[in-house]
Amino acid sequence: MPSHVANINADFKGKDIMTTNQFVREDVDIVLDEADAMAEMVNAEGRSDLLDDLVVANLFYEASTRTFLSFEAAAKRLGALTIATQGVEYSSISKGETLEDTIRTVESYADTITLRHPEVGSAAAAAAVSEVPVINGGDGNGEHPTQALTDLHMIRSRLNDIYDLKVTMVGDLKNGRTVHSLARLLSLYGAEINYVSPKELAMPKSIVDEIAPLSEQYQTENLEDVIADTDVLYVTRVQKERFLPEGGLFKEIRARRAYDKLKDSYLIDKQVMKKAKEDCILAHPLPRVNEIATELDNDPRAAYFDQVKSGMYVRMGLLALINGRTITQQF
Ligand code: NCD
Repeated sequence: MPSHVANINADFKGKDIMTTNQFVREDVDIVLDEADAMAEMVNAEGRSDLLDDLVVANLFYEASTRTFLSFEAAAKRLGALTIATQGVEYSSISKGETLEDTIRTVESYADTITLRHPEVGSAAAAAAVSEVPVINGGDGNGEHPTQALTDLHMIRSRLNDIYDLKVTMVGDLKNGRTVHSLARLLSLYGAEINYVSPKELAMPKSIVDEIAPLSEQYQTENLEDVIADTDVLYVTRVQKERFLPEGGLFKEIRARRAYDKLKDSYLIDKQVMKKAKEDCILAHPLPRVNEIATELDNDPRAAYFDQVKSGMYVRMGLLALINGRTITQQF
């Protein structure tokens, strides 16, 4: 973790949210409790004026639907104004401006900045120059801490308990940033984690080694090995955008072939879910491409649209906390 990124230590005020390594269990619990309070508030009143003196910037330089819109909705439901840019082509980055200069500009307008960017470490680079807190909304195939908090919030809402879970992650575990962040957070609660992927898309060894003291972990290419004993089946898409390196036609053809070979490695459908437990949670950070058959959308175990709801509540909670405000006492 870069030295300018601080551990949370139960105090979120003014801090950047860069990586799940900033969190211990107590910090995660604070976010989940605040998100619960936000859910209650939204259900009772729709919105609040908790942040109505603030401006929140959302800089999204990579494709996004849920993360972008949930940050927008989260800020607005708390009364903040939002300013946003989506896509490199409409920003000065396309003219050659550095990320650092962009951040120095945006911090003059906004009280917090959320950044999504295709490069690993970009959020940390932004945080290094920013006077206002920066939230990592996904940095390349690095981390996606707010999604992992979202995933845990959904699981806790369903099970009331997130200790000692048996979680199976399926798909592109190499490039999927959500699973990198989620594995780290789950390990804080003693989860056993199964990694199901083709060898080429395995969970990075650095993460496996890092959480080994806290979590039992098992790698396989075969979902059948582990599905029957799984509490949460977390499915991810093969990250096509990480397969297309720039430069050289041959490199591109090779990358496309590799993607085509791997893209349909696992399809979760009714047949597969017959082998899963009756109360297994079927999760996916979305977007799904071809990993979960739509015939499962009405299965009570399908939780991916609940995850979307959790995303807004968690981001409301985080925005409140890093601005030193909370509604947990009121709701
Ligand atoms: C994920 C992401 O962007 O990493 N989406 C999301 O934020 N909900 C997963 C993905 O794109 O596959």
